[in-house]
Amino acid sequence: MTKFSKKIRKAIFPVGGLGTRFLPATKSIPKEMLPVLDKPLVQYAVDEAIEAGIEEFIFVTGRGKSAIENYFDHSIELESNLKDKENLENLNLIQKTVLKPGSVSFIRQQRPLGLGHAVWCARNFISDEPVAVILADDLIEANPGCMKQMIENWDGGNMVATMNVEDKDTSSYGIITPGKIIRDKIEVRGIVEKPKPKNAPSNIAVVGRYIIQPSVFEDLALQKKGTNDEIQLTDSLSSQIGKYPFYAYNFIGTRYDCGTKIGFTKANTNFALKDDEIGKEYNDWLSSLLKN
Ligand code: UTP
Repeated sequence: MTKFSKKIRKAIFPVGGLGTRFLPATKSIPKEMLPVLDKPLVQYAVDEAIEAGIEEFIFVTGRGKSAIENYFDHSIELESNLKDKENLENLNLIQKTVLKPGSVSFIRQQRPLGLGHAVWCARNFISDEPVAVILADDLIEANPGCMKQMIENWDGGNMVATMNVEDKDTSSYGIITPGKIIRDKIEVRGIVEKPKPKNAPSNIAVVGRYIIQPSVFEDLALQKKGTNDEIQLTDSLSSQIGKYPFYAYNFIGTRYDCGTKIGFTKANTNFALKDDEIGKEYNDWLSSLLKN
């Protein structure tokens, strides 16, 4: 019987995409640095990983993404400025964004050839162990966080976080062919990227959280192009069916597709309404706006 390492210590954050749906902003700001309220998307993703017990953070970046690298480092000038002004609250806030020395790596995906290619670019940081993959532009509000829920329900093999979508929306997601339901998990018998509603095997859609076995990298190495002529992570996961257990986990929480304008705006509205400082004023303003 195959032995599985239980502990998931590393997470890959693919942040090498072009973010064309947010042009012109993403001409010079990485999509993952767009803020929901006062925190960039990538911070929510890292917070979720830390909560799930992740100790090593591997970012797959691209050209124009150096803001992400700087964000997780010290900002010496700003820190000394805040120290001089005795602004300890903000000093503490920015110091908390600095990840532990040696726990963070950055690798360039020289060309954005697809999510599968981005994950493959991180291969040399992963030894023979399972790894989490977190897409920062999928912001998931959940308690406990989505990755923690997944790890708690994971028992080896590959796993994807899923949610049910409307039939008309299947062409925006990877869609699974469901098998047996085992407690909170659904066996994955097949997975297809962005099927038209009439071809979709279900309406159970993959969102941007994965736990993958090292063998997935072997298939990614073949660099096969799939939907939209991109190297798709779901295709390599599909190649593992029958070799390793593969489950979907319907997480409990709300997911905002912050790679789209509507998802990003909904996330901002939701977080603003719940915010201690501005929530009430924003609620009043929004209510009166909607009345007129
Ligand atoms: P998207 O499909 O949203 O693509 O990627 P994108 O390029 O970021 O955005 P659009 O479609 O042009 O607006 C999903 C995730 O995969 C990463 C992205 O950074 C995002 O987190 N990704 C995608 C890569 O890291 N590299 C790629 O080649 C493609």
